[in-house]
Amino acid sequence: MRSAPARPAPPLNLDSDADLLRMIQTDDPAEIEALLCSAHAVRRRHYGDGVYFRGLIEFTNYCKNDCYYCGIRRGNAKLARYRLSRSQILECCRQGSALGYRTFVLQGGEDPHCTDAWMEPLVRAIRAEFPHHAITLSLGERSRASYERLFRAGADRYLLRHETADEAHYGRLHPASMRLRARKQCLFALREIGYQVGAGFMVGSPFQTAAELLRDLRFLQELQPQMVGIGPFIPQADTPFGRCPGGTLTMTLKMVALSRLLLPTALIPATTALGTIAPDGRERGLLAGANVVMPNLSPRRVRKQYALYDNKICTGDEAAECRACLEARIRRCGLTPDLSRGDCADRRPV
Ligand code: 5AD
Ligand code: FES
Repeated sequence: MRSAPARPAPPLNLDSDADLLRMIQTDDPAEIEALLCSAHAVRRRHYGDGVYFRGLIEFTNYCKNDCYYCGIRRGNAKLARYRLSRSQILECCRQGSALGYRTFVLQGGEDPHCTDAWMEPLVRAIRAEFPHHAITLSLGERSRASYERLFRAGADRYLLRHETADEAHYGRLHPASMRLRARKQCLFALREIGYQVGAGFMVGSPFQTAAELLRDLRFLQELQPQMVGIGPFIPQADTPFGRCPGGTLTMTLKMVALSRLLLPTALIPATTALGTIAPDGRERGLLAGANVVMPNLSPRRVRKQYALYDNKICTGDEAAECRACLEARIRRCGLTPDLSRGDCADRRPV
């Protein structure tokens, strides 16, 4: 039987929900390849070949929330908990700065111990010692007053994934105490205060449909965040979703690429989760529109305990090893490691 002659894929109209849905659902390798290539071209136009580095410090795995997908959820009694001291966190920053990183990302669960009174002196101390570095916080939902206080103390950026922009789907991933509305309020407050804001979502989380992924993209357009974190859902054995299938590489790459097309100047990481589901996952992300990597700066002895999902990579590697490894991966893609602060192309200080 003769195969049908290859027809050029119809152009993608980003304003059309039907077109985006078709892209989210297609299995056609040629169509997918064309999408990833055009996202790479858009990223090149705005950022050239550079890939920015963010030193990630996972400083506490205590969390008061109980998200069904997440390994550090309160209900996971099997997990050994840790919290780095403020001086240990500063030490991680020093190590990161010595490695050349100009952005620190302080990430943790929603740890009740990390009040404003605890966080503020920490942010001030980092700001005082590293006046030209970017300080990114990722501490979950807090009050507007808290976000304001930490901004005044010197934080520049805030990462808070929305996880899913669909109310009903949000309700299937979280206990009733957590509301999508509250999450969105936080994101808009952060933006108003003046943070560079990062939103994002998991791909392939349980019960997710193409229509919900479309809503995620439309929400990104509405919020216009400077950063977008997208990674596959990966089951963690000690959670309610521990036996659910994970998200796929192809679907995650498609969502990275579509996010790049919709938000051309966004900073988009090739996430650790992407590197966890495929050995070349991060490289594939970088060639599909991503332009950031986030090497881990946490002390090696706690790495495994920040167990959002199973089989997380880089838990045994020293920070310097990760830097060398990532540089090699970036160069193998024909891209260039860039150790500058890496502000959003629409937010560069003038
Ligand atoms: N698989 C993939 N990503 C996860 N996250 C939490 N749990 C998982 C999981 N099982 C992501 C969430 C969160 C970020 C810090 O990690 O999107 O916002
Ligand atoms: Fe950590 Fe490769 S990035 S070992």
